Amino acid sequence: MSDEQATTARKNAVTMEKLVNLCKRRGIVFPTSEIYGGLGSTYDYGPLGTELKRNVKEAWWREMVQSRSDVLGLDSAIFQHPRTWEASGHLENFTDPMVDCKNCKLRFRADKVAGPQCPECGGELTPARQFNLMFKTFMGPVEDTASTVFLRPETAQGIFANFQNLVDTQRVKLPFGVAQIGKSFRNEITTENFIFRTREFEQMEMEFFIKPETGEEEKWYRYWVEFRADWHVRYGLRADHLRRREHAADELSHYSSGTTDLEYLYPFGWGELEGIAKRGSFDLDQHARASGRDLSYFDEDAKRRYRPWVIEPALGVDRAMLAFMLDAYDEDVVENEERIVMRFNPRLAPIKVAVYPLLRKGGQPEKAVAVREMLARHFTTAYDQAGSIGRRYRRQDEVGTPFGVTIDHQTMEDDTVTLRDRDTTRQERYPIGALVEVLNGKVGWAAA
Ligand code: GAP
Repeated sequence: MSDEQATTARKNAVTMEKLVNLCKRRGIVFPTSEIYGGLGSTYDYGPLGTELKRNVKEAWWREMVQSRSDVLGLDSAIFQHPRTWEASGHLENFTDPMVDCKNCKLRFRADKVAGPQCPECGGELTPARQFNLMFKTFMGPVEDTASTVFLRPETAQGIFANFQNLVDTQRVKLPFGVAQIGKSFRNEITTENFIFRTREFEQMEMEFFIKPETGEEEKWYRYWVEFRADWHVRYGLRADHLRRREHAADELSHYSSGTTDLEYLYPFGWGELEGIAKRGSFDLDQHARASGRDLSYFDEDAKRRYRPWVIEPALGVDRAMLAFMLDAYDEDVVENEERIVMRFNPRLAPIKVAVYPLLRKGGQPEKAVAVREMLARHFTTAYDQAGSIGRRYRRQDEVGTPFGVTIDHQTMEDDTVTLRDRDTTRQERYPIGALVEVLNGKVGWAAA
């Protein structure tokens, strides 16, 4: 399949519009400040989006930190000393070329306009100027140059700035990684495609420190590209919607000597999902120079000091959510009725199990409430007694709830319930007492 054919096939399957509508209708994603007309491409996560986001971060943290003995966690501040950004090169290099329309005053990224005319009004454009993407604000009561601070444009620098603290306190041995999840901010000139590119977003980044040797660098670079690609597929992306693309020399970030993007096939075409970069010792060297601190590592075996090199996998939480939602989205027909079904990996699904009384009488609602309370100690749950059972199943299918427990007349006799599977729609009977264990096997992290 050519790129073009693949994109067309993708567009037919799910459009961004369908997903945006579903997200709004079901409380997954809301436009920020909607009551004031919205705030350009900024989004809030509703109750279900919040759960999905927590699960995506949990899936990352479990595999990148918790289950490994060579990676530590960190949670550094969004504000860093302003000299951080001088040393990291962001003040000088973290820019996009932009042009302004002399007529309508709109501003565009120079690489996004085709010719010398304004794409909106046809007016004349100014020559390109560099525009720094960092948000500025002031720390303390005086608003002047000396009190200017920046909202971090990446979480990575908090890790580099803590390198010495980590080496001094954690008895680490190379290779080792430091991972962090947190908000980043970029004053993007072009925001687009729902939560794909926004000005406030969350990142999951890991700096993996290695011996400064070309062989080690290549080995770990390949390792992390494959590990990360595999993670995406295991949590629900279609392998044929994911590809690896090596950056050309002229598109590398200022700190990188090699970057592979994991690209995903969005409805608008192939685009970056995650980047895995070789940062060498660029950041530690720069911070050592700017701070006057050593920032080196003592290699006990080689009996020498050096600054490690770095391999960095960096993924946007929001962008990962978008890709998981797009690949989960499906439409099919069940019992002659069309349904939307989000086929989330159970571990990412916002709600794991919904509980329904078949009828609103005969003690069934009370029993269902009790079962729900028992399950809620272990899983995210929903309770629904409104409307026909078919409609209730459909409501949960639409938000990707993988299992449904129905309390019926037989439950009242023998304490068994039916357990419905979202994807097959098949139902099996289990004793209430076995539900936690059965569901743990199906949706628990241990089953990942
Ligand atoms: N520390 C390296 C770094 O920040 P990046 O490629 O600029 O590298 C890493 O960002 C990831 O963060 C991207 O692959 C993307 O998933 C996410 N990301 C970057 N800018 C974003 C934005 N404006 N909106 C949403 N996600 C963004």
